[in-house]
Amino acid sequence: MTNKITIAIDGFSSTGKSTLAKQLAQHLGYVYVDTGAMYRAVTYYAMQKEYITSAGFDVAALVNDLPNISLQFQFNQALGFAEMYLNGVLVEKEIRTIEVSNFVSKIAEVSEVRAKLVEQQKEMGKNKGIVMDGRDIGTVVFPDAELKVFMTASATTRAQRRFDELVAKGDAVTYEEVLKNVEERDYIDTHRDDSPLVMAYDAIAVDNSALTREQQFAVVLDLVAQRTKNI
Ligand code: DC
Repeated sequence: MTNKITIAIDGFSSTGKSTLAKQLAQHLGYVYVDTGAMYRAVTYYAMQKEYITSAGFDVAALVNDLPNISLQFQFNQALGFAEMYLNGVLVEKEIRTIEVSNFVSKIAEVSEVRAKLVEQQKEMGKNKGIVMDGRDIGTVVFPDAELKVFMTASATTRAQRRFDELVAKGDAVTYEEVLKNVEERDYIDTHRDDSPLVMAYDAIAVDNSALTREQQFAVVLDLVAQRTKNI
C-alpha cells in the first residue's frame, strides 16, 4: 500500500483501543503509538519521586522536573510492538499497575504535561503511516487525521476486561475496585479543562460491547480501505 494515512483511535479506558490499534498497525505495516503509556510513564516517574502520593500531588515539583523526563518507544521484535522506556529504562510492566491507573488521570490533567507529550506525539506522526490511540488524538494531536475512530463499551464490560487482564498478570485486585477506577477515570477524563475526552465531530463511533476482536477489526479495516482510496 502506498497511500499511508493517519489513524486516530480515541475512547474511554479499557475499550480495547490498544488491541485494535496494534492489530491495525501490524496488518498495515504502520507505526503504533500508545499515548496512554506516555501518561502512565510520567505518572510512574511522579510516584517514584513522591510528587504524587495518596496524601497529595505537588504539581509544581513535577512541572519543574518535566525537562528531565525522557520517553521513548522501542520496537520489540518478539512481541511485535513497541515498548515504553522512561529515561532509558523499560517500564512496560511498572506502568500497567492499578496504583498507576489510580493516579494517571490526575497527571493527565496537568497542561504542561499534555503540552510536552502532544509535541512529541505530533513529531512521531509527521510522516503518516501511524496508528495512535489515546483520548485527544482526533481532537488535538491529529485534527486532520484521515480516519478517526471513537471506541465505546459499557463501564461494566470494560471493568471486566481490565479485571481479567490484571488477574492474569497476578495482580491482587477485586472487580469492584477495577470498576470504581474505570468510572472515576471516565469522569476525570471527560471533565478536565485541558483536552477533555470528547468525540471529534468527524470521528466514527464503534461500540464494541457486543463485538468480537475479529468483528471489530473487520469493521475498522473496511473504513481504512475507504479512506486510503480517497487520498
Ligand atoms: O489508555 P490508558 O488507559 O492507558 O490511559 C491512561 C490515562 O492517560 C487515562 O486515564 C487518560 C490519560 N490519557 C490522556 O489523557 N490522553 C491520552 N492521549 C492518553 C491517555
